[in-house]
Amino acid sequence: MADAEDLKRRAAARALEYVTDGMRLGLGTGSTAKHFVALLAERVAGGLKVVGVPTSEQTKAQALSLGVPLATLDEQPELDLCIDGADEIGPGLALIKGGGGALLREKIVASAAREMIVIADETKLVGTLGVFPLPIEIVTFGVVATTRRLESAIAAAGCAGELRLRHTKDGKPFVTDQGNVIVDAHLGQIADPRRLARAVEEVAGVVEHGLFLGLARRAVLAGADGIRVLE
Ligand code: 5RP
Repeated sequence: MADAEDLKRRAAARALEYVTDGMRLGLGTGSTAKHFVALLAERVAGGLKVVGVPTSEQTKAQALSLGVPLATLDEQPELDLCIDGADEIGPGLALIKGGGGALLREKIVASAAREMIVIADETKLVGTLGVFPLPIEIVTFGVVATTRRLESAIAAAGCAGELRLRHTKDGKPFVTDQGNVIVDAHLGQIADPRRLARAVEEVAGVVEHGLFLGLARRAVLAGADGIRVLE
């Protein structure tokens, strides 16, 4: 039986079929995206010509170490395709992302792409978003006040749950590549993702949230029975 890493690699390999010569690619972050970058590097070594825009310092370091040509988003502001993982994939390909803390750059890069393809093992597919805590990136100024305002906004949007500041394994606040922190909203379920997204966006101090709505065009899902492509 295939293990989780194997399934992630298979999804990544299938998504590589959408990549053609000359493409400008958004390169996602996380363990599934890492497989994609590794497989892409093999194709680049074999002569494929692409340029990648990484969504995190982590992905940048991996891609550079494997010889994948990179550019900044300022150098390549329009991308052909963005390939990234997700923490949950809900109805209509609504996503929760940001488990790895890269949601801000991931959303900017996905928005700059003509198409976003999500790659995942099929356990990420859910009927309702929200079991995975929703990451919300906020500025470091006024974390307590912003978190309180967020609690009220989230309740007003019909959701309930606990908000926790994300920490690293050694107990320090997790700091994103953009120098912000992340509050994880443990909500259990998000009945109306658009309503919640609007409510969260109105809170001063919020930089971005992990609800990716209307961004993904396809999801390539790997399971024990093979690969499924949802569109
Ligand atoms: C990082 C992300 C990742 O795409 C998401 O957390 C999924 O990661 P993985 O492929 O390791 O399950 O949004 O910010």
